[in-house]
Amino acid sequence: MVELGSGDATAISDVVSSLPGLRVRGFDISPPSVDKARENIRARGVEDRYTVELGNFFDHADASGGPQIATVISNPPYIPAPDRDILMPELWGGVHGNDLVLQLLKSGYDNVIAAVASYSDPLTTIRTAEDAGYRVANFLAMGLDYGTYSSEPKVRDHIRRLVAEGRGWAGDDEYMVAVALFTRNPDVPGDRADQLLRALQL
Ligand SMILES: C[S@@+](CC[C@H](N)C(=O)[O-])C[C@H]1O[C@@H](n2cnc3c(N)ncnc32)[C@H](O)[C@@H]1O
Repeated sequence: MVELGSGDATAISDVVSSLPGLRVRGFDISPPSVDKARENIRARGVEDRYTVELGNFFDHADASGGPQIATVISNPPYIPAPDRDILMPELWGGVHGNDLVLQLLKSGYDNVIAAVASYSDPLTTIRTAEDAGYRVANFLAMGLDYGTYSSEPKVRDHIRRLVAEGRGWAGDDEYMVAVALFTRNPDVPGDRADQLLRALQL
């Protein structure tokens, strides 16, 4: 698999550790995150099967899909804001918060495993996935409280506006995130897109 935005790599290194056949090539644009990721990967002893490189995922031609790599995984930046001038610009997901997941869904992978936030225009994300030939094979949804970055006043106000426009859901201090498998693999049956929308309160 390839990974957009490895962060400190703790999330996926445990998965690599428990699945001996799995190899992951990750990218992150944040130098401190890449340093931390490499440290954590070494500490878990999976450096032969999990690498993290510094750079924009989409600048790496060989990571952008194609027949040899079927699956991309990502907890992509999904903070919506009018511009990138927020507390942690690396977490900016565009005006509606879903720019990066939309770009992933247009990159040609058979499987896209991605976090989808309820306040980041999930309906457009799911409709874009459908238009690109994906079905929602399944998902895991959870409720989250606003963290440091969603609580920034500029972001919080923007989320309120998006919700008022019908572009998602958020409570006063809470939202939902689902990790969904979007697939084009005909051997994986079913489509839970409607269930996913309901889990995100839409
Ligand atoms: C929400 S964090 C996820 C971190 C980690 N995967 C986790 O789940 O804990 C998103 C990460 O994506 C990185 N990122 C943002 N844009 C990127 C891009 N275009 N290419 C690669 N990484 C990117 C950020 O630096 C950040 O570490």
